[in-house]
Amino acid sequence: MAKFEVVNHPLIQHKLTIIRDKDCSTKVFREVTNEIGMLMAYEITRDLPLEDIEIETPIMKTTQKQIAGKKLAIVPILRAGLGMVDGIMDMIPAARVGHIGMYRDPDTLEAIEYFAKFPQDIDERRVFVVDPMLATGVSAITALNQLTTKYNVKEENITFVCLVAAPEGIKALQEAHPNVDIYTAALDEKLNEHGYIIPGLGDAGDRIFGTK
Ligand code: URA
Repeated sequence: MAKFEVVNHPLIQHKLTIIRDKDCSTKVFREVTNEIGMLMAYEITRDLPLEDIEIETPIMKTTQKQIAGKKLAIVPILRAGLGMVDGIMDMIPAARVGHIGMYRDPDTLEAIEYFAKFPQDIDERRVFVVDPMLATGVSAITALNQLTTKYNVKEENITFVCLVAAPEGIKALQEAHPNVDIYTAALDEKLNEHGYIIPGLGDAGDRIFGTK
């Protein structure tokens, strides 16, 4: 059974309140979004397997733990996903980074992929797909469709990471990809008629990059 977790650590909740505020500057929004990404990295990596290794301290030989298993990849959905990557990378600096870009066709409302570049061994990695806002779920589902069908990544090896989710997006994503773990810092009330999450934090991409 895949996990669905609202990461309610006090530091994350506090920082999320800072960026939800409409008067938060672009600079602070960007910094704090990365800080939340760093804190969420703790939770999303909690189940990584460990193995024993022999090392020698200045005092003696000893058996200690190191992370084992699959190598890691972070895949931000462009462009807002970029806002969390540096923070996550602070915690897992050896992870490779793939990118997937999508725009919403204004007529069909479908998500159209316009860019995708992944590590060549992405199907052998544990993959963290990152997008701050899980609204309708269309972009997330389309990105996961691509990863699972075109690049052969198994759902079991994918974790979807966001800051704010709408119940509609969670439901859609769980139905489309039932074996993908989902972590969010907040589960908000619902979507409004324009597809924005309420109360939400507005357009995450615009707020990260100062384009509004
Ligand atoms: N994307 C955003 O950036 N914000 C929302 O509220 C919904 C989708």
